[in-house]
Amino acid sequence: MTKKLNILIAAATAFLVVCVLHAVPAAQAGASGSFSAAQVTRGEAVYATQCASCHGLELEGVADLFPALAGATFVQTWQDRSVGELFEKVIVTMPALDPGSMTPAQTADVVAYMLSVSKYPAGSADLGSDQAALNAIPVGAP
Ligand code: HEC
Repeated sequence: MTKKLNILIAAATAFLVVCVLHAVPAAQAGASGSFSAAQVTRGEAVYATQCASCHGLELEGVADLFPALAGATFVQTWQDRSVGELFEKVIVTMPALDPGSMTPAQTADVVAYMLSVSKYPAGSADLGSDQAALNAIPVGAP
């Protein structure tokens, strides 16, 4: 009986350890793995038609006019914020001459593309467009 109980406790402990190990990296991974490679490809097309005219083909921006949307400065600006804030910034204010013209799905795609160019690795599932869910994803470092 005691042996059975010990096995049960060991199994339960192992299960808990697996849960914790699984939960912690997911929370710390930030934007890494939060979007898919297919989404990056779609986002690249959105970017080319809706954003590149101001922010540059390489997302490099134009000094004092249009901020870069990838690279060290971009990561520094956004790493302590959430993916939700980035999504909201884009869907509410961009493209600057026609804000509100993009669908939530297009916005999520273009956010995925921006993160990918900044070297956040893709994961297996698309980034969604639910604001509350996106708010829970920290951008973090790539
Ligand atoms: C007509 C020019 C123009 C277009 C087109 C445009 N933007 Fe912008 N964007 C700006 C300007 C100007 C700013 C700086 C002012 C501000 O933050 O609103 C900016 C700022 C941003 C920022 C904030 C960057 C930071 O680090 O502060 C993001 C993100 C952004 N744009 C994304 C996009 C995306 C994505 C698209 C395409 C869907 C896009 N923009 C299209 C002009 C443009």
